[in-house]
Amino acid sequence: MRVGGSVQVPGDKSITHRALMLAALAPGTSVLRGALTSLDARSSARVLRQLGASVGALRSGAEVRVQGRRRFAQPAARLDCGNAGTTARLMTGLLAAQPLSARLTGDGSLRRRPMRRVTEPLGRMGARFDPPGADRLPFMVTGGKLQPLRYDLPVSSAQVKSALLLAGAGAGVAVSLLEPDGLSRDHTERMLRALDFDVRTRGGRIELTGTGRFRPFEFDIPADPSSAAFLVGAAVLAESGALALPGVGLNPTRTGFLGVLERMGATLAVEDLREQMGEPVGTMTVQPSQLIGTVIEPEEIPGLVDEVPVLAVIATRASGETRFRSVGELRVKESDRLGLIASNLVALGQRAVVDGDDLVVEGTDAPPRGRVRTDGDHRIAMAFGVLGTLPGARVAVDDMTCADVSFPGFAAALDSIRRRR
Ligand code: S3P
Repeated sequence: MRVGGSVQVPGDKSITHRALMLAALAPGTSVLRGALTSLDARSSARVLRQLGASVGALRSGAEVRVQGRRRFAQPAARLDCGNAGTTARLMTGLLAAQPLSARLTGDGSLRRRPMRRVTEPLGRMGARFDPPGADRLPFMVTGGKLQPLRYDLPVSSAQVKSALLLAGAGAGVAVSLLEPDGLSRDHTERMLRALDFDVRTRGGRIELTGTGRFRPFEFDIPADPSSAAFLVGAAVLAESGALALPGVGLNPTRTGFLGVLERMGATLAVEDLREQMGEPVGTMTVQPSQLIGTVIEPEEIPGLVDEVPVLAVIATRASGETRFRSVGELRVKESDRLGLIASNLVALGQRAVVDGDDLVVEGTDAPPRGRVRTDGDHRIAMAFGVLGTLPGARVAVDDMTCADVSFPGFAAALDSIRRRR
């Protein structure tokens, strides 16, 4: 395949969730441009409307206006977070600081995902959960006055960290957090700082003093580097050409995959660097490259946690072995991603095994042929969609529509970068 063109990737999912939530707590009107309009973003918008915020329709290319309120309204019905772990966990944090009771739920995948990682520390702050110590949705959260928290996270997780920071910011209490192995994405810290909250990171410890008030803002949301990664993957695996992706978020806590790809021999460049609300943004350009296997160390994982599926697919074309160390967290994503990456690669005639908590992929020339089971996981669908662009590939993905969770129009975007010779 020859690759070419310039593609505008949709808005960042993590930042869109956070921007909607912070705007919903700010009395006045906030304006978001470039917000993601995917199913996950709609889940946050829908839940915030149920809590009395006025959130405009999420339409591609249109700005979203949000009229926030300092206190949420008691919701009339349960809050359905759909497939979105970020909606569920961050909303639990926001609700912990609100004097009301709300019942949260989600789809079959979200109801299987661990929640004690947020309910336990929020419980220490004073939020109440029914059932007590709830580890799965649905549960009821009753919020109100909270106490300060000093807490060492059991896993590096931006969702847990953000839930606790949002609880502290909402309740006006100090929160001090330490992540065990590597800094997870820091969008919440950057956005709170841009809104004049006092948040600092010192020696890996994140400190929020609890002073500050939510105020309305305008935000040009960068394109999502995790969505861009699939197109980057297709371009790296192509035979010739070059691809440009303008306006992509380049926050260093999100771009670990670029460093790994460079180590594997990929030709990448970043241009037009600028900053939007504390977030670095630029144009990524990629050229097809010969790749060699590498080891991805545990402390690198938080910075590329969502890119493991596409990196694993890319690793099938690298010479030698690629080892992703300590990726056990992938078992509790939208699917058992760790198991599904390996079993799907094997089903397509590729070489991959799960070794304890490591994923090991061996490069091969065998064209990928067979059926892919996604379990409705958007990133599995898109990663294997990329593998299907290889010469001689015959890859049947059981459900490509789940890409809409994070990247509406993914199949068309992938198609648009392919050039006839
Ligand atoms: C996210 C954090 C990560 C990531 C998810 C989005 C966020 O999850 O996998 O897609 O927006 O905070 P964890 O916090 O569970 O690692």
